[in-house]
Parts: sequence; C-alpha cells; structure tokens
Amino acid sequence: MVRKPIVMANWKMNKLPSEASDYIQHIQKPLLAYPEIETILAGQDVLLDAMVNAAQGTTIEIAAENVYWKERGAYTGETSPAALADLGIKHVIIGHSERRIYFRETNEMVNLKALAALRNGLHPIVAIDEQIQIVSHSDHMHWVVNEVIEALKGINIEDIPNVVLAFEPTQSIGSGQALNADQAQENLYLIRQTVSDMFDAQIADRVRIMYGGSVKPANALALLEKPDIDGVLVGDAALDANTFLELVRLAQ
Ligand code: G3H
Repeated sequence: MVRKPIVMANWKMNKLPSEASDYIQHIQKPLLAYPEIETILAGQDVLLDAMVNAAQGTTIEIAAENVYWKERGAYTGETSPAALADLGIKHVIIGHSERRIYFRETNEMVNLKALAALRNGLHPIVAIDEQIQIVSHSDHMHWVVNEVIEALKGINIEDIPNVVLAFEPTQSIGSGQALNADQAQENLYLIRQTVSDMFDAQIADRVRIMYGGSVKPANALALLEKPDIDGVLVGDAALDANTFLELVRLAQ
C-alpha cells in the first residue's frame, strides 16, 4: 500500500495571526510543485481563522492543536470540535506530550477527544509519546502499545484510515536530538503492529504514522526512507517557512 507522505508543522504557542498569514503566502506557490505530499500546518486557536483564510484555494491543510470532547456547553476556555469543523479545520492534534505532561491529559481524555473529533468530521492526529523515565525495553514497548490501544479504543474500523498517529519521544522534542532512524522505525513498526492487532492488517497498512522530535533537514531523509515512517511532525524547525519547504522537498 502506498501511503501519501505528510509533512506537518506544529507551531505550538508561536506566531501571531499576521505571521501565520505571511508564512502561508510564502509557501503556497512553491508547494504546488509537490502535490504528492500532504502538507499540514497546526496553530494555536487564535490563529486558526487567519490560517484557514490564508490557505483557501491552496494545497495547505490546517490543524488545531487541541480540542475538547463535547460539542457545546458550559466549558469555559475549551474548544468545540463542531466549531473547529465549522471553521474549515480538517485535522486536530490530540494527546501531544506537552498536553499530557503540562495539562495532565490522560489516555482516557485522549480517547474521548479522538472519538469527538471523528464524530464531527475532523481527522485526529493522535500523538503517542515515550516518557524518558520508562527505562527498560519491555516497559517502553508496553507503554507505547498501551497508549495506542487506549487512544483508539471504540473507534469504528471504517474511521481508522482517517486517524493519523504520531510517535514523539519526549526526550527528542525540542532537544535537537532526534531518535536515529532505526530506533524511530522500530517504534513506528510496533505502533503499526498494534493497530493491526486491534483492527486488521489491511487497515494497519493504510494508517499513516509520523515521527516527531527534533526533525530537521539534516535528519529528515533518513527518517522518511524507513518503511513505516509516513511523515514528520515538526516543531522548532518548521517555524521557518523556508525550512518547512525544504522538508517537503526532502519528503518527495
Ligand atoms: O509537535 C511537534 C513535536 O513536538 C516536535 O517538536 O521539532 O521542536 O522537537 P520539535
């Protein structure tokens, strides 16, 4: 199965609305040369309206960085999946390790958010992390497998191809120290096998899985050449529009 590669920027809590629009204007034309790569930009909620407007008529897809699991109600400060969909957002990151660590998101919350995203026509990009304190190999494998199982629990098999998974070892995020491509491949293979065990091999073969954690042009190619690595989720390096374009060129 040929899976369409993804290059995704996660701007996290960076950029102003005007900077977001300038970035999109800068990359939209050059991206037309790479129709075989899916390009996604994730921004904080206050940027999303500007991002959607700037990306209209381009090949760029927009993602939110978080969502709540209820459509409406008295949940001050939360973001409704229905409102995101109505705004024209296509994807939403769920369970990023920064949300798990700083905002105490649990596997159960990740699962509720993934189900709510799908219910509202959004594509969840579910982040699977690896905590540095998990030292032994078997504990590590158990941790990763368990996060996948808990995140995808109760999702209908026909919705699974609309879910993208992203493996992000916490010690690699923002540290400049990406996992080497072999270690990353080992983890993404484990994640794909887990999806296969939960659903079936054909579905697992269609699911796209990204690696994230200090991806930059110097290491992207080695990662993207691995059979189970279908894309990269990039933080710091993708704050620069030209570096993002370079990553897309490498993914081709
Ligand atoms: O969502 C993106 C990841 O957390 C990676 O961030 O490229 O700055 O290490 P980074």
